[in-house]
Amino acid sequence: MSCCARFDGRLSDLSDTGLKIKRGGQVWPSLLWLVDLKQYTGIRLNALLDPMHLLIPAAGSGKRMGAAVNKLLLPLLGQPILAWTLQAADQASSIEWIGILSQPGDWPAIEQILAAMDLSTPVQLLQGGATRQESVYRGVEYLYNLGTVERVLIHDGARCLATPKLFDRCSAALQQVDGLIAGIPVKDTIKVAEAGPKGIQIQSTPERSRLWAAQTPQGFRLSMLWQAHREALAQGWQVTDDAALFEKLGWPVYIVEGEESNLKLTTPLDVLLAAQILQQRLGPAR
Ligand code: CTP
Ligand code: MG
Repeated sequence: MSCCARFDGRLSDLSDTGLKIKRGGQVWPSLLWLVDLKQYTGIRLNALLDPMHLLIPAAGSGKRMGAAVNKLLLPLLGQPILAWTLQAADQASSIEWIGILSQPGDWPAIEQILAAMDLSTPVQLLQGGATRQESVYRGVEYLYNLGTVERVLIHDGARCLATPKLFDRCSAALQQVDGLIAGIPVKDTIKVAEAGPKGIQIQSTPERSRLWAAQTPQGFRLSMLWQAHREALAQGWQVTDDAALFEKLGWPVYIVEGEESNLKLTTPLDVLLAAQILQQRLGPAR
C-alpha cells in the first residue's frame, strides 16, 4: 500500500461520485458544476459549497534561494512571488478567506503587496513559526479556535504558479474526503540510496507507477488536522507536509490531479522557469 490513497480515476471522476443536479434534462456533475457556475456568475453558493479557508505558509527565509530576503518577496515578472500566489488564490471562486503565515519582520512588505493588489478575498496576517510545520500549526490553531471552520486548504506561498482551477478542484474534492493533496505522477526513475563503502549506494528502485510527486494545495477536515498537529507535537513528529501527519495516524489521504507547472520555487533556476511559464501564460504583450 503506498502512503497515499488515490481516487480510482482522474479528479473529474470525482463529480461522478457526488450528487447529480438535473438542469434542462441534462444531468450535471454537481460539485464541479457548482464551482464553474460560481466562476461564470460570481454567485457565492455558500449553502451548497462550503466556503473554503486557505492558509498560505510564507514564513520561511528561502535559504536555498540564497537571497538576502524571504524568497517570496523577490520580484517575478513585475510583482513579488507571493503576489502571484495570492492572485491565483483570490481568483479561485471557492476561496473565501486567506491567512498568510509569516514572520512579523516581513509584515510591512506583505502589507505593501496587499495594498497594491486590491484583492476581493479577505486576507489576514498570522504569525508563522520556526518550521513550516510550526507555521501551519499556528494557522490551524487560529482557525480551530474560531469554532466555525470545517475544512481548510493549505498552499505553500512558494508555489506561485498554481492556477485558480487547481484551488477550486481541491475545494470541490474536499467536500467528499477528509484529506487530500494535489499530486502528479513522478516522471523520473527514483532510487533509494544510502552511504555505502565506496559512495552513495543504491538500495532499491521503487516501481514508478506507484510514485507521486506531492504538491500543494493540500486539504483537510480542520478538526482532524488539528488533532494530527497536536499529536505530532506530543510525539515529536517532524514532517515536511501535512498529509504525512494523516499518514502517520493511518487516516486516508487522496491525490487530486495537480499541475505539472505547479513548481515550488526553491532555487534561482526555479524563478527563471517560473518567469518563462508566466510569460507564456500572459502572452507576448507583457
Ligand atoms: N515556510 C513557513 N514557515 C517556515 C518555513 C517555511 O511558512 N518556518 C513556508 C515557506 O515560506 C514556503 C513553504 O513553507 O512558502 C515551503 O517551504 P520552502 O520552499 O522550504 O521555503 P523556505 O523554508 O523559505 O526555503 P528554504 O528551505 O530554502 O530555506
Ligand atoms: Mg524550507
